[in-house]
Amino acid sequence: MKQHQEQEYEHENHQEKHQQQEQHHQQQLQKANQNIEKIKEKVAENHWRLQYHVVPQAYWMNDPNGFIYYKGEYHLFYQHHPYSPQWGPMYWGHAKSKDLANWQHLPIALAPSEEYDQDGCFSGSAIEKNGKMYLMYTGNVWTGPNQDTDLKQVQCLAVSEDGVNFEKLDKNPVISGVPQGNIHPFHIRDPKVWKHGGDYYCVLGSKTTEETGQILLYRSKNLKDWEFVNIAAKGEGNYGFMWECPDIFHLDGKDVLVMSPQGVNPEGDLYHNLHQAGYVLGHLNYDTGKFHCEPFELLDYGFDFYAPQTTKDDKGRRILIAWMAMWESKMPEQQYDWAGAMTLPRELKLVNGKILSQPVPELQSLRKDNVEYENIMLQGEQSLEGISGDCLELDVTINALTATHFGLKLRVDKENEQETVLTYNVNEGTLSFDRNRAGVGPGGVRKAPVTLKDQKLNLRIFIDKSSVEVFVNDGEQVMTGRVYPNENATKIYLFANNQIEVTSLKKWDLNG
Ligand code: FRU
Repeated sequence: MKQHQEQEYEHENHQEKHQQQEQHHQQQLQKANQNIEKIKEKVAENHWRLQYHVVPQAYWMNDPNGFIYYKGEYHLFYQHHPYSPQWGPMYWGHAKSKDLANWQHLPIALAPSEEYDQDGCFSGSAIEKNGKMYLMYTGNVWTGPNQDTDLKQVQCLAVSEDGVNFEKLDKNPVISGVPQGNIHPFHIRDPKVWKHGGDYYCVLGSKTTEETGQILLYRSKNLKDWEFVNIAAKGEGNYGFMWECPDIFHLDGKDVLVMSPQGVNPEGDLYHNLHQAGYVLGHLNYDTGKFHCEPFELLDYGFDFYAPQTTKDDKGRRILIAWMAMWESKMPEQQYDWAGAMTLPRELKLVNGKILSQPVPELQSLRKDNVEYENIMLQGEQSLEGISGDCLELDVTINALTATHFGLKLRVDKENEQETVLTYNVNEGTLSFDRNRAGVGPGGVRKAPVTLKDQKLNLRIFIDKSSVEVFVNDGEQVMTGRVYPNENATKIYLFANNQIEVTSLKKWDLNG
């Protein structure tokens, strides 16, 4: 009898503590939301603010998190520091959309508030169970001054009935410590959760004790109790020292592992960004937990693309969004109290053993003020009436004819010698994206291997104030970069070193 009473007492005590903790969480959220409210109108005036991409209302954003189609709407969370335009203790910012084209900001969803996540609610994912939305994220704690070695990372859950207000689970952390094997004890993060058969699975980014990137696979019956299954995949050769933000899904007959390897060395034209993001096709054996990997492919050949995350929507589409920035890159928007943006949502398809990425068709609803040209012979440099702007979509098909170099100059301001240049090089079979004269931001050139189809190149280009995304030949290649030109750098030129034919050129202004 006495024992029973004691148990009850302990239970009540526990409940009370949990309630107090939850109150503390709510206060942290409120404070952070107020801080954003104070400054967001001023931030909105900055001419580099993207109009139809997800950007933070103010201050810092990195990885997309918890991307999910839930009760008829797309929810996108993101790594957020609501107190400065620099990375800091991580919160989860939150936006939602009915159509992936128009987004609405919601209150911040998660704040560091518990012992196990006191220095940050790091990246993670979302899943629906019994009508509720669960967020699975990494609780980060610094245990000393060196952020590479002095950290503890555990996996946690938060739950919501309405997709807006989240409560952290009493049972947190739901995964702590490392399993047996060659696994670094502290760098374990970014849970991506999904359901397969009757079970839940999640993958975690990890590395070996000798600094090789790898992925851990876990299984659960109920989302709360997790068993380690295996090291699903591990880098061999030039695959980097840590794999962040893993994501596994089935696409058109294959399993796909998407991940963001840190520390891959440059090889020829490839891997010149600080970190990479790409995929391997293969097959996940759900019994052994082993993912048989084919060669690594980039998901984007530009400058600013990291930590992509996918979700499957009600139409069965696999949609990807990535952070449109790069760690340690210069971000001139920081002087206007914001930093970072998301890429456009891209639909993935597997065609002939390769993933194609295309902007979701819903973006067409943003189109207005169409200008079109057909069959223009061109040599040298030329601008076309009505083809200019800094917030638009271009769809251009060019027949190379006798030219060996041709392309487009975007965001041009001749007086100040600003331009962002896309050049197709026939002899190399490459498309390059040159931002060395793009404005005040970081420079550089990136190249993607591109083959012409019947001598033709098709580019769908999305420009949004300080971003350029180029979808090549139906999404075979994508090149993404941030650029920071003057406000009046809005001219567009076509150029060729010999004769080309612009078989079709379409422009739409896009409103956000
Ligand atoms: C990837 C990443 C994740 C981590 C998060 C922290 O960009 O480093 O591994 O969870 O950012 O903000």
